[in-house]
Amino acid sequence: MQAFLDSANLEEVKIALSKGWLRGITTNPTIMAREPKTNYAGHIQKIADLCQEANQPVSLSIEVFARDAAGMLQQAREFVKEVRYPSLAIKIPVAPETMGVIAALAGEGVRVNVTCGVTSGQGALAAAAGATFYSLFFHRIKDLGTDAAQTVRDTKTLIAGSGTQIICGSIRNVDDILECSLAGSDIVTAPLKLWEEMAHHAKSVEWNEKFLQDFAAWIK
Ligand code: E4P
Repeated sequence: MQAFLDSANLEEVKIALSKGWLRGITTNPTIMAREPKTNYAGHIQKIADLCQEANQPVSLSIEVFARDAAGMLQQAREFVKEVRYPSLAIKIPVAPETMGVIAALAGEGVRVNVTCGVTSGQGALAAAAGATFYSLFFHRIKDLGTDAAQTVRDTKTLIAGSGTQIICGSIRNVDDILECSLAGSDIVTAPLKLWEEMAHHAKSVEWNEKFLQDFAAWIK
């Protein structure tokens, strides 16, 4: 499982970069709108610069916000020109009318993260169109009453050999992270607080505290 951070917050990016487990960062228009209003591509460049400064050129996804295919294509090309970062991926929402956008960008060598995925069938088409990543919205799928883990397994089977990697997003708790990973998701993108929660266990803290107490008595 590769761990991605689902955030556009510069402080969170800095913290995640210091942890050693970070392999990528994903953003979307909602996530961007949580940050102070600024230039969209400019803010992404700040995140990219933090990654470069930390010598960790992790994957970084930025989403188009145009509503039609022609606008998405134009915006994606602009982002690729504006943001100086080798591991940039452009998020394109999955839909019948965006398949050509995915294929055109992939043909130009752009890494495309096909987003807002609900079904394995959408993933199969995204992979065929040349997606680098297919983002399944894991907990939102659960909220629809669907077996999200089975959706991950089916997608994995359908896109086998395509080179497309599955990213599970829309992660609400640590169980989601484990469940989608065990179902075969290549990547999980989640908020920082959930990765921190996953690294913590009260018993680990308690057991180490006892070691330190025993040692303190011995060493004095
Ligand atoms: C994934 O790339 C998305 O940014 C994200 O995980 C969306 O999930 P949410 O809006 O349900 O939290």
